[in-house]
Amino acid sequence: MGKEVKRIAVFTSGGDAPGMNAAVRAVVRTGGYHDLHVYGISEGYEGMIHGKIKRLEKRDVANIIHTGGTKLKTARSEAFRTPEGREMAYETLAAHEIDACVAIGGDGTYTGAKVFTETYDIPFIGIPGTIDNDIYGTDYTIGFDTAINTAVEAIDKIRDTADSHNRLFLIEVMGRHAGYIALHTGIGTGAGFVFLPEINADLDEFVKQLQRSTRRKKLFNMVVVAEGNKTGNSMEIASYLKEVHGIDSKVTIIGHLQRGGAPSAFDRVLSSRLGYNAVKALLEGKENVALGVVNGEIAYTPFAEAISNTKSLNKDLIAMAEILSL
Ligand code: F6P
Repeated sequence: MGKEVKRIAVFTSGGDAPGMNAAVRAVVRTGGYHDLHVYGISEGYEGMIHGKIKRLEKRDVANIIHTGGTKLKTARSEAFRTPEGREMAYETLAAHEIDACVAIGGDGTYTGAKVFTETYDIPFIGIPGTIDNDIYGTDYTIGFDTAINTAVEAIDKIRDTADSHNRLFLIEVMGRHAGYIALHTGIGTGAGFVFLPEINADLDEFVKQLQRSTRRKKLFNMVVVAEGNKTGNSMEIASYLKEVHGIDSKVTIIGHLQRGGAPSAFDRVLSSRLGYNAVKALLEGKENVALGVVNGEIAYTPFAEAISNTKSLNKDLIAMAEILSL
């Protein structure tokens, strides 16, 4: 059991995700309830290095549960990757007598926490915050539900115009390394095909499927492409279709639209639960673990394990997406 926790700091890091504010609110309010002093660090590890830290009271987090983005701001910090950067960050925490930190972010955030806590005796608790849903140790990450709802809403609109003209649309969604957004969005919109970074879908096979559908008079006009698809992004696939097969298509890249907007009810509840349990975990003496929700229950995964494991896409969902698109 570590030292008594009286002062904690919370920050958001990496790509913002809808629900991060709700998680910060939960940390601040739960901390306040337990008479802890809670500090907010702005701009993630970068702000930690540069002393951007201030006390947050319960009322400071009023009116933010429904907001997207992160009020604490975020950054991807190169400096924190260096021992010098981490030492400066430690000095900020030490100057404010911070006993423990709650880090909200993705894989990079957890890696930073792991490396930092190997040198400095300030425990961290991680909260999975990324729209990608690619964090091991949790069924869902903060922001994923909102992001897929945003993508589904956008694609429903595209479908109206695609149907009207019988046009083929390639719609690119986020996910540089993980296909969760693409797969769930594809299923939710009844896409004819989904390109995932985890599967090197053969373009010729895709064209054959497209042609088979056309012969069966099946309207095959919505294709979802994950930005990290290894056999090409949406623009590259469109060029290939035109140049090799003479097939016309339109491309829509939804892009950062998926990162913004008010968090869904699901994300607000998930974020609140994770923020509340992060403080509880620290008070119980838990150290250097990432929180998650697995099968509806709070789960704790050591940072090293969370980082070194990959959360694989559900194979049955992939098979289902294919069958339902036939
Ligand atoms: O990790 C979330 C994410 O939105 C990915 O889906 C995407 O590839 C990446 O961040 C984009 O990052 P940035 O906004 O820094 O370009």
